Amino acid sequence: MADIQRVGVIGAGLMGSGIAEVHARAGIDVVVTEVSQPALDAGRARIEKSLQRGVRAGKLTEADAEAALKRLTFTTDLSAFADRDLVIEAILEQEQAKVEVFRSLDKVVEREDAIFASNTSSIPIMKLGMATRRPAQVIGIHFFNPVPVLPLVELVPSLLTGEETIARAEAHATEVLGKTVIRSQDRAGFIVNALLVPYLLSAIRMIESGFASAEDIDRGMELGTAHPMGPLRLSDLIGLDTIKAIAESMYEEFKEPLYSPPPLLLRMVDAGLLGKKSGRGFYSYA
Ligand code: CAA
Repeated sequence: MADIQRVGVIGAGLMGSGIAEVHARAGIDVVVTEVSQPALDAGRARIEKSLQRGVRAGKLTEADAEAALKRLTFTTDLSAFADRDLVIEAILEQEQAKVEVFRSLDKVVEREDAIFASNTSSIPIMKLGMATRRPAQVIGIHFFNPVPVLPLVELVPSLLTGEETIARAEAHATEVLGKTVIRSQDRAGFIVNALLVPYLLSAIRMIESGFASAEDIDRGMELGTAHPMGPLRLSDLIGLDTIKAIAESMYEEFKEPLYSPPPLLLRMVDAGLLGKKSGRGFYSYA
């Protein structure tokens, strides 16, 4: 069933670069694209840095890291995706932008049996499927950050995703990438973010109301419940713009106040305080 040999990744941000890296490390030929050369260069640098981290941690050898890099092709030209068996989209959490990507993929990818996947956390897979002529081959494959470290993948079929697509995607994630798969219905937030995002938003509301400091909130959850990081440091890791986008999609879907992004989060995103990736969020990263 592990029939997927050529993979394309659209977007080389935090998630896209991680997804490209785990595929290259698993021996897969990967093409990565971004909207601009600087964004592509930043993605390549992120992958190189992570591979070196993996070498230092003893997870792979220097030769493995070099071989993985050789399996990656970076291009701004989408026509390089024509021969891909599986394409994973990992751009910004913006529905219209994702719909455009799926529309373009439908035109560019020549293989009739290619799978089009999205790493979205919150945008309906159905909307992306309907942007193509092959909704039976469109599925959500949702990874977790840092992708080389966290073992989970959420598999999200839409109402129209075919059984064969589900089986091929599951075999790929488990047998090739070595991830553990859980399945979710096509509902904003799927399983993990439906639980995680209200918790992160609650921590932000706690700071907003002067209830406690960021350090104490994080220390509370790290030492009191054995979470590897507290909710505010984790928010900085995920990216506050991403959390805002996921919260908005979930609020739009369920109209529940617990998903509504608090004003402090909105102001921080407006200010460009996006967390670790921008150098400052709830903490500073010099
Ligand atoms: N390649 C391979 N392995 C790596 C690696 C890399 N690039 N970087 C780190 N590792 C390994 C390390 O070797 C280490 O392995 P061992 O436990 O076997 O020694 C392990 O990963 C942990 O790494 P570190 O010791 O460097 O770092 P840490 O212990 O401080 O942990 C962390 C860092 C992994 C980020 C941890 O704090 C953590 O898991 N935090 C929670 C992250 C989380 O919840 N992410 C989910 C966010 S939600 C999401 O992503 C979905 C969404 O839609 C928003």
